[in-house]
Amino acid sequence: MSSAAAASSSTPRPLHGRVAIVTGASRGIGRAIALHLASLGANLVINYSSNAALADAVAAEINSSSANSAVTVRADVSDPAQVKSLFDAAEEAFRSPVHVLVNCAGVLDSKYPSIANTTVEDFDRTFNINAKGSFLCCKEAANRLKRGGGGRIIMITSSLVGGLKPNMAVYTASKAAIETMVRILAKELKGTGITANCVAPGPIATEMFYEGKTEEMIRRSIDECPLGRLGETKDVAPVVGFLATDASEWINGQVIRANGGYV
Ligand SMILES: NC(=O)c1ccc[n+]([C@@H]2O[C@H](COP(=O)([O-])OP(=O)(O)OC[C@H]3O[C@@H](n4cnc5c(N)ncnc54)[C@H](OP(=O)(O)O)[C@@H]3O)[C@@H](O)[C@H]2O)c1
Repeated sequence: MSSAAAASSSTPRPLHGRVAIVTGASRGIGRAIALHLASLGANLVINYSSNAALADAVAAEINSSSANSAVTVRADVSDPAQVKSLFDAAEEAFRSPVHVLVNCAGVLDSKYPSIANTTVEDFDRTFNINAKGSFLCCKEAANRLKRGGGGRIIMITSSLVGGLKPNMAVYTASKAAIETMVRILAKELKGTGITANCVAPGPIATEMFYEGKTEEMIRRSIDECPLGRLGETKDVAPVVGFLATDASEWINGQVIRANGGYV
């Protein structure tokens, strides 16, 4: 039995009948979030930007193991037309408005440059995908998510906004921009029943975390965590899962850091 099948046979399904889009769901944290939301009963749109085979594998795991289903949609979150198409595809696939938007797509400059050494091109790429991509997803979700209950906007940001580490300034600033935007979005959505929150992980063992890091950098991240280990994707997915359900309604306009106590 696959992990999704095991989970779906043993856990309650508070998201039964709901539609969730998870951006950046082909790999890493987004993949774990998509599988977890499926285990809670949601129908899933698995978004990705280039890795079609990996996205297909995530959808196949959901489709083979649960009553609910998943489709994949390629879309670059930094492109307004593609974000629109992503929501169109979700509504069409499940003949329903979207209930939950989790924006997990993101990039980190694995050269870890200081501000003095960051190129304008790298700044633009980071802000285009992380900050503008989040804006476009928030904008579309604010206009199209289900009103009157069940609407959930969840943006994946970073505990670095609290950690303020050198050599990650542009990435961190892009995530800080999202956190500010979401706090305001929650207020703008007054009367819709839609909540908007951020989940801000600390270091999580994914391709993004390891890319470009020396052994020393990895060891430092482990040392800085009171629990003495890197986070895993399964440390983040249940937090997002809770925020996606009705039980989380009173959490709105917040940034929830999930980092084992590192900041
Ligand atoms: N790992 C960490 O330590 C950590 C800590 C805090 C926050 N985060 C945040 O958590 C999120 C996921 O990180 P991760 O570690 O899981 O990263 P990852 O393993 O590198 O996965 C990134 C995902 O984002 C997708 N993606 C990248 N650019 C995109 C675009 N323009 N449009 C749509 N999708 C795009 C990728 O799709 P393809 O597979 O198609 O390329 C992939 O699914 C990011 O927002 C990251 O900033 C990560």
